Amino acid sequence: MAAIKVPNLEAVLAEDMSQRAARHLIQPWSAAGRIGAESRTLVADGEGIYIRDAAGKRLIDGPAGMWCVNVGHRRAELAEVMRDQAMALSYNTPWYTMSEPSIALSEQLAQYGPGDLNHVFYTTGGSSAVETALRFAQFYNNVRGRPEKKLILSRGGAYHGSTYLSASLNGKPRGRGWMDGADQLVVRLSSPNPFHRPDGVTIEAFSDFLVGEFRDTVAGVGADKIAAFVGEPVQASGGVIVPPENYLPRIARICRDNDILYISDEVVTAFGRLGHVFASADVFGVEPDMITFAKGVTSGYFPLGGVMMSDRLFEDLRKSNQPDAMFAHGLTYSSHPIGCAVALKNLELLNGGILDHVRAVAPYFQEQLKTLEELPIVGEVRGLGLMACIECVADHESKNPLTLDTEVGKRIDAHCQELGLLVRPLINMCVMSPPLIITRDQIDDMVAILRQGIERTQEDLQREGLWRS
Ligand SMILES: Cc1ncc(COP(=O)(O)O)c(C=O)c1O
Repeated sequence: MAAIKVPNLEAVLAEDMSQRAARHLIQPWSAAGRIGAESRTLVADGEGIYIRDAAGKRLIDGPAGMWCVNVGHRRAELAEVMRDQAMALSYNTPWYTMSEPSIALSEQLAQYGPGDLNHVFYTTGGSSAVETALRFAQFYNNVRGRPEKKLILSRGGAYHGSTYLSASLNGKPRGRGWMDGADQLVVRLSSPNPFHRPDGVTIEAFSDFLVGEFRDTVAGVGADKIAAFVGEPVQASGGVIVPPENYLPRIARICRDNDILYISDEVVTAFGRLGHVFASADVFGVEPDMITFAKGVTSGYFPLGGVMMSDRLFEDLRKSNQPDAMFAHGLTYSSHPIGCAVALKNLELLNGGILDHVRAVAPYFQEQLKTLEELPIVGEVRGLGLMACIECVADHESKNPLTLDTEVGKRIDAHCQELGLLVRPLINMCVMSPPLIITRDQIDDMVAILRQGIERTQEDLQREGLWRS
């Protein structure tokens, strides 16, 4: 590995970054008492699966940034393509021009899109992708003469973004308490979380319950009022919730039978996290009407997202008698030429062995993490592909996180950072989704640090009288 340069280490040491950040930088997801006055771990640079903090300490990037640095940090190929594209054409307006990279990328994505998902609308990230899909669903029903068909089905544990409409769908605990949303548009369903299914209920019976709830909701609310179902194939920020087998195809069938659009939110699961470009069909056997994506499409090197849309939707629009109805929706940075050029190169890297690597190494990743279930505070380790979650519980009977210490994830992260691993803490959970190039040896390192971090957390909690094994 080439020596990692820290160009601004001296400057970092000279200046008090924390204080400067606290004075001027507003962090996302910040509490009222701290907003506008908070600083966080300063990341100086990265290479491969590692990042370095300002003090020069090397950490495994456990969450790959935010589920996004899929091909790893400091890929010269991506930096070069970004520079070359900026020198050739740094920007063009999508309102009345187009660029070659955006056309080439759309053509390639259409080849990977399941079924007839042959069209792409580009956005600036995941929230704007979900927002676009929802606004398109509304437009679609308006144009078809069904303006009352507007409700959106979403589930507990969901995370779909931070714009108004996408955030209205969120079902994560604590995600919405103090925020407004378009609640009148959303119908909420249960989270497909097998770990928290009722006692004594088999996974098959739980799956039947979820499908029954979906069918009953459609019947009760009326399919003529429901525009779309939005779901992540694996609920990511909700704690890597892998749904029961065959549940998603059953939901998709109900949607198709009831003229409800199935929007698969693959902002996390696409571009290799589960070993495929898109996971909906390849992993779950579902052909959605739209797929939203972002993050891994550029491995986080450039903000880009998008929506894959099915031919059928456009044919339906053309069949309507509203040919002049305008889809009045667009973003200045839709189809950004630099983003699309980076995405093309990123796709080449993924296809050049990384997708194969994920499929080969994922079982080892899951098996090794699963060994952490030996630790008494760990209730479950679950996951798929290269995404996993360690859920801590107060006790194995109640599976209750709240009588524990709700910040247990943060405690584990703090210990792991000391030991050389950055973790994504989520209340009582730790999410792991490293860069897809992680090797078996690096997985061993990651799991060893996690084990130690969790053991130290157990000792702290015991000492403070917050938990007993
Ligand atoms: C499934 C899913 N959808 C949408 C989003 C929102 O994406 P962004 O933060 O790029 O707007 C996220 C972000 O984590 C996500 O996990």
